[in-house]
Amino acid sequence: MAAMLGTLPLLFMVVLVLLAWMWRRPSRFPPGPTCWPLMGSFFAVPKKDLHLTLMRWKDEYGPLVGAMFGPRRVVLVAGPREVLEVLRRDEFAGRPRMFFFKERSFRKLLGVVFSDGPFWTEQRRFALRHLRDFGFGKTSMDNIMHEEVDELSKVLLTSEIHPVSRMFNQAIVNLLWTIVAGRRFSYEDSQFQEILGYVYKSFRSDVPGGVLVNVFPFLRFVIPRWSGYEEGMEYVHGLQGMLRESIREHEKSFTEGYHRDFIDVYLEEIRNKKNLPETTFTEEGLIVLCMDLFIAGSDTVSNTLEFCLLYMVLYPGVQLAVQREMEDVLGRSIMPSAGDRTRLPYTEAVLTEVMRINTIVPVPPPHRCMKKTELQGYTIPEDTMVFVNLWALLHDREHWGDPHVFRPERFLDAEGRFARDDWCCVFSLGKRTCLGESLARNALFVVFTSLLQRFEFSLPAGDPAPSTKGRLGLTSTPEPFRVKVTPRGPS
Ligand code: HEM
Repeated sequence: MAAMLGTLPLLFMVVLVLLAWMWRRPSRFPPGPTCWPLMGSFFAVPKKDLHLTLMRWKDEYGPLVGAMFGPRRVVLVAGPREVLEVLRRDEFAGRPRMFFFKERSFRKLLGVVFSDGPFWTEQRRFALRHLRDFGFGKTSMDNIMHEEVDELSKVLLTSEIHPVSRMFNQAIVNLLWTIVAGRRFSYEDSQFQEILGYVYKSFRSDVPGGVLVNVFPFLRFVIPRWSGYEEGMEYVHGLQGMLRESIREHEKSFTEGYHRDFIDVYLEEIRNKKNLPETTFTEEGLIVLCMDLFIAGSDTVSNTLEFCLLYMVLYPGVQLAVQREMEDVLGRSIMPSAGDRTRLPYTEAVLTEVMRINTIVPVPPPHRCMKKTELQGYTIPEDTMVFVNLWALLHDREHWGDPHVFRPERFLDAEGRFARDDWCCVFSLGKRTCLGESLARNALFVVFTSLLQRFEFSLPAGDPAPSTKGRLGLTSTPEPFRVKVTPRGPS
């Protein structure tokens, strides 16, 4: 017995050495925070404001930071030039196969946000081709958006002061639901409130552990709520149920060759390909793809619009200049449409500057290195998870000069024309670039200009100036603030 007890410390040491060996940094891997056995550097990586920590780590470790999340190798790309390189290289266009990404899609990797390989290529191509007919195209989107702006205007006319918190969610979810399922909801509809709740929850989880379950899936059995599992699955099941219901309704009234919305087109593709054993088109695939569009498209656009109002009350001179430009080109009675974007370069510059300075997605969902590769002299093993700091690109002092100053003119040339800047990648770039970029840009333009055509927005007397620092969940949103809304008379 005594001899056995004597060997325990030795055994303990052997286990420790073994664990340390298993969690060692691979050779020629980028430097980074200490990797502890089992947890890796999980606790060194903050769950909030990761983009700001990465700005500091760039000085401490260099432009590429190596870490471990539990047993997973992770590279955090902190330098702006390295961000551009990674996004442009196809081998970094994968997505990590994380537990929760599978769990939310019927334990397979479906949809377009978290899938990769040939499945992702086919689904993304199909979505891009057909969504153009139902709202991603300019003219089809205008009518839907005008209806939403009319509804929003009715709400704004009910009182002088309005809180700006989730002000645009209903309009944007309605836009997406019309594209996907062919109908809009009245703002009071209880089913609509349920959908809004699910979409909102998917973005603003206050779970203390974040989605810890992605790194340690067994935690869902031990601490289901704290690990993020229970809350995550609540919204997944809720949204899936509503989409399934809508698909059933579509099937009842389905007419071949007649497409009312995206669900109809996808259902036809399922039917056309049902005898092909390798088809990627299934009902589950349709549900997850629609969920992806809601989750990727709703908060991003709504939050950007909130930031637009925030900058308009902080910079009344800019608001006036946008209104003057609109008045010169469109007058006050013609409702702006997406086709007017090129005719209103100053307005386009203002929207671009709002998106740059308050990057809505400072660190996009992780990418995956799909084959062992070299990056800036380091070796990145296959399946390494890769986070890029878009914020670093959009706030690089060397490139922008004054990145923290709100200055729309930086996007105008000497003749006052809109001047694109390749570093302004708010929608990311490369193969994984945002699928909804054109819809987002058009929707932002139409809602923003239509509202500024009808109303003047200012800070209510006595209210403090709202902070420009965003609150971060998966996307950045302003702290709640209030606006005074004054209808504009005829010119
Ligand atoms: C201001 C609005 C928006 C911004 C700033 C934005 C930004 C982004 C960013 C940064 C990514 C990550 C790209 C990467 O992983 O490198 C992304 C992906 C994506 N976005 Fe957007 N987005 C916006 C609106 C939308 C809208 C309206 C939709 C569709 C309805 C949409 C659909 C998607 C999808 C499906 C992906 C995943 C693409 C893929 O992995 O292949 N987004 N977006």
